[in-house]
Amino acid sequence: MLKGKNVLLGMTGGIAAYKTGELIRECIRRGAHVKVVMTEHAREFMTPMTVQTLSQNPVFTDMFSLIKDFDIAHISLAEFADIAVIAPATANVIGKIASGIADNLLTTVVMATKAPVLICPAMNMNMYANPIVQENISRLSTLGYRFVEPGYGELACKVTGPGRLAEVPEIMEAIETTLTDQDLSEERILVTAGPTREPFDPVRFISNHSSGKMGYALAKMAKRRGAQVTLISGPSALERPVGVRFISVSTAVEMRDAVMAHLERATVVIKAAAVADYRPAAVSSSKIKKKEGPLTIELVRNPDIVSEIGRQKGDRILVGFAMESENLVENAKAKLAAKKMDMIVANDLTQEGAGFQTDTNIIQILDRDGGIEALPLMDKGDVANRILDRIRAMRVAHPRY
Ligand code: CTP
Repeated sequence: MLKGKNVLLGMTGGIAAYKTGELIRECIRRGAHVKVVMTEHAREFMTPMTVQTLSQNPVFTDMFSLIKDFDIAHISLAEFADIAVIAPATANVIGKIASGIADNLLTTVVMATKAPVLICPAMNMNMYANPIVQENISRLSTLGYRFVEPGYGELACKVTGPGRLAEVPEIMEAIETTLTDQDLSEERILVTAGPTREPFDPVRFISNHSSGKMGYALAKMAKRRGAQVTLISGPSALERPVGVRFISVSTAVEMRDAVMAHLERATVVIKAAAVADYRPAAVSSSKIKKKEGPLTIELVRNPDIVSEIGRQKGDRILVGFAMESENLVENAKAKLAAKKMDMIVANDLTQEGAGFQTDTNIIQILDRDGGIEALPLMDKGDVANRILDRIRAMRVAHPRY
């Protein structure tokens, strides 16, 4: 979503300025144009040369420098910005903005811009706890300025507490969220993802190749679009999405219990997990030793979680997945009806670029009214957004009362 967007980055004087370099690179990697304004004190911590090289644009420092193309810097920068981000933001700059002081290029641009302003404080923990700073933050929040809370940890002054500049992924997520239409803000979305593991002794289990990528992408994008998201995940190596309530499970039975415990609050349920249909009938308490001849493990059926939700779904929107290797549409349609889903996302395992482990997917979305939408090969983040678009459209057509 940052592709083609203009990010105006303000740097003030704090030791965390080194992290801003990483932030600039990440914005550019995602396709944004970045222009940086540095205060005089920021230049004590990072050189304009470094920042200019990273941002691929001239760095702006002075209010009254002579400019060759007669642009008035603070006005053109204010108009350039789709979003203004101040990272790190000192207690001083927060105080100035809250008091309406515009005495340098950065504070002047902030005062002149109509773009959303995202402030990322970084300071000593006692300064951060100071009631004046807290009052400034709440005043600015009331006025629509957004904040990315500082992290907890060891600070440059050797004390441990809240005050560290938030980590780059967290700031990036806040930037993306600020630039995203909050069209799912009324929804509480429960997403399941990943495989389940069905043990038969303390060291072995039966599982599948699911990576969790599709479900994690859905959780991340839903959160970005304003939903409250709970992600119930089987074992996965992926990073937990920022700002999402995360519940870790292992077996299908654990996943079922977690889903049922959280179903009441949910307005949408997306079952992207690859739940094992069977589990070993018995789990040995000690490691099974090898013997001559074959080993037989008896399997019993696991609960079908999506069917259980289907029976008590009320006005929730229930979205399931179907992975098929033949008769994709017919099989998916049958599952949609049998499990009382509102929508099913079907993918053909035999197609290159679809299914488990990949960063892409090729899907068809079938809905309860018989609609079928076939999408081309897409990144899983884009696929997630298309699925969420369909959920949004279904909610607009059938509002909750
Ligand atoms: N699912 C579930 N609980 C199970 C098995 C599957 O909730 N025990 C859900 C999956 O999360 C998915 C949907 O059911 O949303 C379809 O899963 P799939 O395994 O493709 O379908 P099955 O009904 O198990 O059919 P089959 O394995 O015969 O293809």
